[in-house]
Amino acid sequence: MLDIRIEKTLAPKELPKADNPLKFGTIFTNHMFMMNYETGKGWHDARIVPYQPISLEPSAMVFHYGQEMFEGLKAYKAEDGRVLLFRPDKNIERANKTNRRICIPEIPEEDFLQAIKAVVKTDEAWIPEKPGTSLYIRPFVIATDPFLGVRPADTYLFMIILSPVGAYYPEGLNPVKIWIEDEYVRAVKGGIGEAKTGGNYVASLRSQVKAHDEGYSQVLWLDGIERKYIEEVGAMNIFFKINGTIVTPQLNGSILPGVTRDSVIRLSEEWGLPIEERKISIDEIYEAHKNGTLEEVFGTGTAAVISPVGQLRWEEHIMKVNDGGIGEFSQKFYDTITGIQLGKLEDKFNWTVEVK
Ligand code: COI
Repeated sequence: MLDIRIEKTLAPKELPKADNPLKFGTIFTNHMFMMNYETGKGWHDARIVPYQPISLEPSAMVFHYGQEMFEGLKAYKAEDGRVLLFRPDKNIERANKTNRRICIPEIPEEDFLQAIKAVVKTDEAWIPEKPGTSLYIRPFVIATDPFLGVRPADTYLFMIILSPVGAYYPEGLNPVKIWIEDEYVRAVKGGIGEAKTGGNYVASLRSQVKAHDEGYSQVLWLDGIERKYIEEVGAMNIFFKINGTIVTPQLNGSILPGVTRDSVIRLSEEWGLPIEERKISIDEIYEAHKNGTLEEVFGTGTAAVISPVGQLRWEEHIMKVNDGGIGEFSQKFYDTITGIQLGKLEDKFNWTVEVK
């Protein structure tokens, strides 16, 4: 059990107005959680302090070699006033998996959850209540040793910041256009593709800019070796509905194991829908589109929730999906997952955790 010192701000910011669209990741709450690590001492000095800039040496290792882990989860305000987290255990488990991969010391699971609950409770008033909004929680760890040699650091800072958010994409639940990347790759098996760390995201920027310039929201990655099998979209996992079956790439070491991805798989099983986790080649998608069996495409992610895909572009081929509209199952997964998150639907899986 952490002993968390709480220092409340003396200059609280105003809450966003009801008509603020809460553009993703632009507004931050009054407080943040911090905890330090030092080899020999372990994690210590857990505290909640006013949200403010932090001071680091220019030589801090995170700036040079990118030793950092981050996570993303959300808190919701239920109609009955309860504050609910969605599957925080999955994020915490994945955070420590990332930590192990990039040599950051693990954070005890119960301390991690206690820290999330404490900072969310402190800024509970910032949880927005309009449909489609939530409080995005961003835990992260950075390496802070002032040192330019390449090795795991001896000192780290663990922080949790909070941001009231609306939809991740400006399109909201409207279908997005996705560019299938055949020039650059995101990750290969054995690399860091399944870890949630900044390096994977910086690797995606060049392609994202290229896609944006062509009018596409995001990039869909193919595998790094054969450049043939579908992997993921930079900020989401991807699902296809082909001839009545829901299909998603199997976790293969280079794909991020998404929490919403897992939730869609579990719901499909519960509903008795045929669901397959397997290799999917881009040729199979192209063929399915050509013969009319590609019924729906959607992305899943904490930030994006369920994001229907209305168009895929692969080389010179433009594949319109479901007439560019929101598919029946995309809508059903969205309604069910957000219904559970908001405490409106029965939580058969015990996915929600109340912050008291
Ligand atoms: C999330 O969905 O929470 C993510 O971390 C994706 C991020 C790149 C916005």
